[in-house]
Amino acid sequence: MRGTVSFGTSLASIAPLSWALVSRSQEAFHAPSSSPRVVTPDLCPDNTTYAGPCEVVEDGRGGWEMRTREWSFNNDASILMIDNVSASTGMSKLTIQPRGAGFSYAEFPAVDSVFDSARDTYQFIQSFIKLFPEYASNPWAVNSLSYGGHYAPVYGSYIQHMNAKILGKLSLWEDTWSTPSDLERYSPLNLTSISVGNGWINGRVQYRSWVDFACGGAEDRGIPQLAQEGDCRWAQDRLTGGEKLMDSCEGSVACAAAGQYSSTVASFPYTMTGLNPYDYRISSPYDERGVIAYFNNASVQAVLGVIGKSSDKPLSWEAHSARVWHAYVYSGDWDVQTDVFFERLLRSGVSVLKYEGMVDFICNYLGVREIMAKLPNYERQATFNKLNLSDWAVGGGNKSCGAYKCLAGRHEREGNLCYVEIEGAGHVLSLDKPREGSLMISQWLHKHTLGSQKL
Ligand SMILES: *[C@@H]1O[C@H](CO)[C@@H](O)[C@H](O)[C@H]1NC(C)=O
Ligand SMILES: *[C@@H]1O[C@H](CO)[C@@H](O)[C@H](O)[C@H]1NC(C)=O
Ligand SMILES: *[C@@H]1O[C@H](CO)[C@@H](O)[C@H](O)[C@H]1NC(C)=O
Ligand SMILES: *[C@@H]1O[C@H](CO)[C@@H](O)[C@H](O)[C@H]1NC(C)=O
Ligand SMILES: *[C@@H]1O[C@H](CO)[C@@H](O)[C@H](O)[C@H]1NC(C)=O
Ligand SMILES: *[C@@H]1O[C@H](CO)[C@@H](O)[C@H](O)[C@H]1NC(C)=O
Repeated sequence: MRGTVSFGTSLASIAPLSWALVSRSQEAFHAPSSSPRVVTPDLCPDNTTYAGPCEVVEDGRGGWEMRTREWSFNNDASILMIDNVSASTGMSKLTIQPRGAGFSYAEFPAVDSVFDSARDTYQFIQSFIKLFPEYASNPWAVNSLSYGGHYAPVYGSYIQHMNAKILGKLSLWEDTWSTPSDLERYSPLNLTSISVGNGWINGRVQYRSWVDFACGGAEDRGIPQLAQEGDCRWAQDRLTGGEKLMDSCEGSVACAAAGQYSSTVASFPYTMTGLNPYDYRISSPYDERGVIAYFNNASVQAVLGVIGKSSDKPLSWEAHSARVWHAYVYSGDWDVQTDVFFERLLRSGVSVLKYEGMVDFICNYLGVREIMAKLPNYERQATFNKLNLSDWAVGGGNKSCGAYKCLAGRHEREGNLCYVEIEGAGHVLSLDKPREGSLMISQWLHKHTLGSQKL
């Protein structure tokens, strides 16, 4: 199946827009024993995704067409894409996102928390392997980006929680989820790893990094002070108050309010620069005209099965759902701190990869470094922190593309922890460094560790 992209239309019986993307490598979807399965929820709850095999480009005649991308995350693994559940996965720029976003539909308000969407996604995967039991025993992974700092650790945790319950064991997440009464309906899933690129994990730490990044804190990495001195002072003076509110808040409304105060204050210096929040080198928003035109095209929608062939009226497709966005932010989900789940995943045997594109403002490396250096309850934190970053290269040769460190699990039942910084990439790795991203993900999915590689 090398070089091809297949859409498993038979999956339409479980949800209209659920596709299994066949791996492009020889270890294809139909080689169930070895090819990893990846679930890739992406970006903000309302955003489009980029890690997939296609992209929309100008067709040279004033319109748009879909083109295959050479470096896709399914080059060497199969991807399961889900629409119409409360969070899911990605074909390039087709929004497959929480219920109510993309082509999925739900009465507003629908799902507004990552803990609930984890259950929805799990239900979907279970329906999938019921229809296709041959895939149940594959190694699975959750790969994610941006708001994926919430999705990946929590979805991974729910899978592990259910695995423990199904096998009649004590789960590390007894405090997070109750045990469903219909356990006999579910099969264990072999979750082997999660990965998170430029992830939104802990606002309490990341808000301060917004001020630092904008105000000269990344100068040793060649990122100059971007914001004006007065704006920086204004934010610094107020953020401490916001942090106190966040530390003492009780209940989801108070904590959402404390988080939003801190967010508004901390983003101010950078916002005033007018730079792209996902890449400080760019002074305009990303251009999404192509993807918007493409998915609002009636013939495209008919092929996707979103509307009937005879229907000439397309549904309105938007790249961002303001409703879904508001639901997640004002439920307090945005300020839920998910770093605690990394340690539990590692302890339960799942390997964790955290990677950072270095020119991103919003989930910038300053905050993420601090989060990775202080994972709650992580027994091996001191050892991990002592490891130095080494040069990281992919695809043969020895040109460094960044730096990485990996701590191997002590025994079979403990996951590996890797952290990577990628030069010249912003928030969306596969947009800026698709080759490095695809090679990194392939190596990670098969080996659960990284290192300079020759391919
Ligand atoms: C999509 O999701 C909605 C809300 O959960 C559900 O009511 C609807 O039946 C689903 N549509 C299909 C075709 O599965
Ligand atoms: C995500 O959505 C926001 C609007 O909610 C938009 O401003 C932003 O450009 C989107 N980000 C990406 C990476 O597409
Ligand atoms: C899960 O997949 C990994 C990687 O292929 C394999 O080593 C392991 O034995 C599998 N575990 C189970 C329980 O099937
Ligand atoms: C919609 O897509 C079809 C098929 O790609 C194309 O022929 C047509 O020109 C598009 N329509 C518009 C209005 O862009
Ligand atoms: C990390 O680098 C420092 C400074 O070069 C060195 O002293 C230390 O031994 C290194 N640590 C490891 C674990 O290699
Ligand atoms: C790798 O880098 C070293 C030092 O920069 C250089 O001497 C060597 O030729 C390089 N090797 C390859 C295969 O590019």
